[in-house]
Parts: sequence; C-alpha cells; structure tokens
Amino acid sequence: MAAVAPLLALAFMAAAAHAADPFAFFDWDVTYITASPLGVPQKVIAINKQFPGPVMNVTTNYNVVVNVLNSLDEPLLITWDGIQQRKNCWQDGVLGTTCPIPPGWNWTYNFQVKDQIGSFFYFPSLGMQRAAGGFGGITVNNRAVISVPFDTPDGDITLFIGDWYKKNHTALRKMLDDGKELGMPDGVLMNGKGPYRYNDSLVPDGIDYETIKVEPGKTYRIRVHNVGVSTSLNFRIQNHNLALVETEGSYTMKQNFTNLDIHKGVYTLDFPTMPIDGPPVIRTSVINSTFKNFLEIVFQNNDTIVQTYHIDGYAFWVVGMDYGEWSENSRGTYNKWDGVSRCTTQVFPGAWTAVMLSLDSPGFWNVRTENLDTWYLGQETYIRVVDPNGGYNVTEMVAPDNMLYCGLLKDKQKAQKPHGSSSSSASAIRSLTELK
Ligand SMILES: *[C@@H]1O[C@H](CO)[C@@H](O)[C@H](O)[C@H]1NC(C)=O
Ligand SMILES: *[C@@H]1O[C@H](CO)[C@@H](O)[C@H](O)[C@H]1NC(C)=O
Ligand SMILES: *[C@@H]1O[C@H](CO)[C@@H](O)[C@H](O)[C@H]1NC(C)=O
Ligand SMILES: *[C@@H]1O[C@H](CO)[C@@H](O)[C@H](O)[C@H]1NC(C)=O
Ligand SMILES: *[C@@H]1O[C@H](CO)[C@@H](O)[C@H](O)[C@H]1NC(C)=O
Ligand SMILES: *[C@@H]1O[C@H](CO)[C@@H](O)[C@H](O)[C@H]1NC(C)=O
Ligand SMILES: *[C@@H]1O[C@H](CO)[C@@H](O)[C@H](O)[C@H]1NC(C)=O
Ligand SMILES: *[C@@H]1O[C@H](CO)[C@@H](O)[C@H](O)[C@H]1NC(C)=O
Repeated sequence: MAAVAPLLALAFMAAAAHAADPFAFFDWDVTYITASPLGVPQKVIAINKQFPGPVMNVTTNYNVVVNVLNSLDEPLLITWDGIQQRKNCWQDGVLGTTCPIPPGWNWTYNFQVKDQIGSFFYFPSLGMQRAAGGFGGITVNNRAVISVPFDTPDGDITLFIGDWYKKNHTALRKMLDDGKELGMPDGVLMNGKGPYRYNDSLVPDGIDYETIKVEPGKTYRIRVHNVGVSTSLNFRIQNHNLALVETEGSYTMKQNFTNLDIHKGVYTLDFPTMPIDGPPVIRTSVINSTFKNFLEIVFQNNDTIVQTYHIDGYAFWVVGMDYGEWSENSRGTYNKWDGVSRCTTQVFPGAWTAVMLSLDSPGFWNVRTENLDTWYLGQETYIRVVDPNGGYNVTEMVAPDNMLYCGLLKDKQKAQKPHGSSSSSASAIRSLTELK
C-alpha cells in the first residue's frame, strides 16, 4: 500500500498540469508488406514497414501524439488496448466513437497516458485487420519518483503471441460473411515469426523463428500479449519460473476531462437488462448509465470455447466466476474485497463471469468480445455514461478539432487530399460507414 498513496497525490497534482507534461510524437505509415511467417507469402499489415509494429515506449503522464497515415486500400482505425482514455472516448479508435480514416488519409491521435503503468498494445480495430497484423506494444513506464513493487529487471522483452491463418483478413472476412466458421488456425506466431523446427515432418524448412538472447542468472521482464484471432494461449518457459508482476497495468486515480455526445439518434438506449427470450437479434442498442454509479455486467458463456471480453476506457473488478448459469443467488458468492482490476476477462464454456465497474468516466465506451471472429460478427455494444449534472465541456473531453465525420454527420467533414492524389476530397469518408 505504501506505493499507492503517493501515487494518488502526485497524479492529482499532475492533472492540473496537463499541458506541461512531456509529449511523445510518433509518425506512422500503415502499409501492406509481404511476409511468410508460416512459409507461405502473404500480405501483412506493417507500421513503418515493421511487423509487428514498433513498441511505443512512454512514461506515465506523457501526452502521446500519433500521426497515422492509412496506406492500406481500406479504412483504418487504431485502438489502444488497455489504455484508459480518461473521459476521452474520441481517441479510442473504435467505430462507435470515431469515424474511420479513409485510405490515403492521415489522422492524428492525441491522448494522455494517465495513472497507469505497465504493458499494453495497439491494433487496428476494424474488419478482422488484426488477423493481418498492424499491432505493436505500448510500454508505460513509471516516473522515476514513483516506485514499483519489484526490482528493476536486467532486461525488458516484449512478446506478441497469437494464432495465425495463412488466409488474409479479407478472405477471413468473406468466410464469416458467408456464415462459415474460420476453423483451426494454421499456426501460432511469436513476434510475427513462425515456429522453431522442432520436428522435421511437422514444421517445413525455411521458416524464420524468433530468438531472444538472455544471459544466465539475470532477471528479465517479459511483456506477453495475445494478439491472435480467438485462441487462448498459455505462455511458459521450460525449466524456468515466471513471476507475474502486472496484468494490464495498474490504475489508481480518476480525474476530469470533457466530451460532447454527438452520436446523435443512431443508437437506442434500450440494451436489455436480462437475456431476451427467443433467437438473437442484431440491434444498435447501447447500455445507458449514469456517471458515478456502479454497473454490474454478467457474461454468460453458453458456447464451447473460452470467450474473452474487453471494456474500453475502464478498469473493472472481476467479482465472480463459476460454472453453470448465473442467478440472483450468485451475488452471494461475489468477492467484493480484493477483486482483481482488469480491462479484459475470460468467460469459460458453460460458465459465467461477473464484473463491476465504477462509472467514473463519462463518454461512450466499447464492450466487446476479444475473439476477432465473433467481434466481426457483431458481438459488441457500448456503454453510454452520462453525467446528469455535467453536460458539454464539464465532465467529458471536447471533441478534437481534427475529428472525422461520417454517417449522419458526414457533411461536416473537411476535405483532405489523399496522399499520392492530386485532388482534395471530403467524399472519401462518406462511403466508409458500412465496413465492419
Ligand atoms: C487476400 O486474398 C485474396 C484471395 O485469397 C486476394 O484476392 C486478395 O487480394 C488478398 N488481399 C490482400 C489484402 O492481400
Ligand atoms: C524506455 O523508456 C525508459 C524511460 O525513459 C528507458 O529507461 C528505457 O531505456 C526505454 N527503453 C527502450 C527499449 O528504449
Ligand atoms: C496529416 O499529416 C500532416 C503532416 O504530417 C499534418 O500536418 C496534418 O495535421 C495531419 N492531418 C490530420 C487530420 O491529422
Ligand atoms: C514428428 O512428428 C511426427 C508426427 O506427429 C511423429 O510421428 C514423430 O515421431 C515426430 N518426430 C520426433 C523426432 O519427435
Ligand atoms: C472537475 O470538474 C468539476 C466540475 O464538474 C470542477 O469543479 C473541478 O474543478 C474539476 N477539476 C479539475 C481538476 O479540473
Ligand atoms: C439515460 O441515463 C440518463 C442519465 O442517468 C437519463 O437522464 C436518461 O433519462 C436515460 N435515458 C433513457 C432512455 O433511459
Ligand atoms: C444457457 O444454457 C442454459 C443451460 O442449457 C440455459 O438454461 C440458458 O437459457 C442458456 N442461456 C442463454 C442466454 O442462452
Ligand atoms: C466549451 O468549449 C469550447 C471549446 O473549448 C468553447 O468554445 C465553449 O465556449 C465551451 N462551452 C461552455 C459551455 O463552456
């Protein structure tokens, strides 16, 4: 506890000095490159020609400015997984709060990493693009004045693991559109590379695999991210013990920002509070809720595979998990004392997981399955957190000047000249809303 109290005080002082905090600038060109992680050449999504993309190495309180140029042939949004966009859902990079960046356009994200320390990652949030890459790490370091509860390791290693298909993301999308299942992945990648040839008949020759040099007797911090489509993976190192020091960062403090609700009439505030009778339906219902209240969400998994759920903008407490079906009586088993603070949670087949959120961030926040295929098929909603005493500018962050407009608001969009084109146009964005 000793480390927590000073962090609270310092973070609060820093809130008043937003503009005085250091800036970190990133300039990204998002393109396809050809790679053969499983021995078959395929187009993957790279950032500045790197696959996986670069690690953003920043420190708590930094203002992060990322200028993203979309050189793909389809719309793009980058989301910052686990970064709590305190009341600033405009920068969240998911379709419900931000319009996509059209091909050839650039857009600059601008957000502050506040009150969290640890390992996060970014990835493209639209249309199965993550199955083709575009992901990379975000390391948020502690400021020197704030101690972390373990010794400084001798080295720092970021690992991306994930299942991988030889089919590209557009082909995977088509399968899902046609009502097919994706089936077994073709392999597992580590840092964008294929398996070590541990067996000549199982692994073909000529596959590049990841090698990490370490020295005996030293301690390394390994930041492991699962960036795959839908497979849960376990990570271990043979004959070594691993100590878990952090999951999805730590967080402590709330503070004030502002926003404006422009998602004007495109959704309804009638997300059912209990499962509905009858077959599933596709609707644009969102969860209506009030600033400073608590929200309880129960995920019931009647499927046969593990599901992972994620909520943007918030950390929540996992208060209960059990096999069988959740009922009112299940509340009696909740752990209300030392629940783990997370932004993703697993829900096992035939089981439920209950989470509690303290609604301290007004805005419009994405709740989704992390399994890319079921997300693509629509398993997501949003929580709209309203401050009845607030309103424009008071508790939510104002929309940024460079906001992209689409859908009903498309006529407000300023023109941008696509890179490599001679004419300026605002119309590119108008046809984009149907993707995802
Ligand atoms: C994906 O694969 C399909 C055929 O399988 C091909 O037509 C398409 O051009 C590919 N797209 C990309 C972006 O590689
Ligand atoms: C990341 O930033 C921290 C703090 O500034 C620094 O100590 C560390 O060396 C950096 N790591 C890399 C890989 O650049
Ligand atoms: C696009 O990039 C240019 C220069 O890199 C920058 O001046 C401009 O503000 C960016 N546009 C947006 C909408 O971010
Ligand atoms: C390689 O895998 C094949 C197929 O599973 C198995 O029959 C064989 O014993 C394995 N070889 C070694 C050296 O483990
Ligand atoms: C937060 O907002 C309240 C009004 O809702 C205001 O009184 C207070 O000064 C704000 N705090 C900061 C740190 O901006
Ligand atoms: C949504 O919540 C807000 C804030 O609590 C409330 O004012 C509003 O009436 C609610 N709207 C609906 C449709 O329930
Ligand atoms: C989940 O399965 C249980 C047991 O088969 C069933 O009673 C329940 O209605 C199912 N729930 C949903 C939401 O489908
Ligand atoms: C809200 O912020 C905008 C932009 O900073 C400013 O022009 C406007 O006057 C503010 N409105 C209120 C009600 O404070």
